[in-house]
Amino acid sequence: MADEITPLIAGNWKMNGTSASLAEVARLAGLLAAGERPRCMVVICPPATLLAPLTAIAAPGGIVTGGQDCHPLPNGAHTGDIAAPMLVDAGAQFVILGHSERRADHAESSELVRSKAMAAIGSGLTPIICVGETEAERRAGDAERIVTSQLEASVPDDWGGRGIVVAYEPVWAIGTGLTPTAADIAQMHATIRQRLVDRFGAGGAGVPILYGGSLKPTNARDILAIENVNGGLVGGASLLANDFHAIISAV
Ligand code: 13P
Repeated sequence: MADEITPLIAGNWKMNGTSASLAEVARLAGLLAAGERPRCMVVICPPATLLAPLTAIAAPGGIVTGGQDCHPLPNGAHTGDIAAPMLVDAGAQFVILGHSERRADHAESSELVRSKAMAAIGSGLTPIICVGETEAERRAGDAERIVTSQLEASVPDDWGGRGIVVAYEPVWAIGTGLTPTAADIAQMHATIRQRLVDRFGAGGAGVPILYGGSLKPTNARDILAIENVNGGLVGGASLLANDFHAIISAV
């Protein structure tokens, strides 16, 4: 991993977790306190209902929290949506945007993701902007074209002097137990890095690029060692303290 970028391991709980799940976070905080200081920033993105109580439990252990989506506007008549300032109010420092599940389930375009990212940055959140190809797109040899076009359109021009994070999550690797080869991950992350540097110069060189998709304790060490992989976005394995801690320890 690049020396100058602080690695980041982020857990995406998706639509999982109730107040009973807070015990796992307390367990994780205990594991982190008992072991070596983690060599990465640790983020948990729970459902919005758990953000405030989870932040309270996680913060003393140095774990920070994030939302899983936000609306482009700061408030208004948008039933069921959540605004970036609300996430901040609940203790979030990050927000996942443009996850493939939102692109698929809610027909989110990259242009919408960009406007959400601008709202997040404007509220002081660091957006974790997700990109990734489907299995059909990879089979058609289209993976790089799809990912770079998502990246171009989803990442805003102006970061307001703050940072952003990019997550490469091949859709076909999410929740399937499948992962790309190390060579394929290296190639895609190098492409993303080059695009960011071309567009943002030194700023682009400093953007953490996370890998996501079936990242587990068993493969974390190998995947996190790949060039331009600056951490991970973890789904299923972030729900259990032991598994998530093992991935954090692999950094
Ligand atoms: P899994 O780790 O469960 O494959 O999920 C990855 C993901 O979508 C994280 O955002």
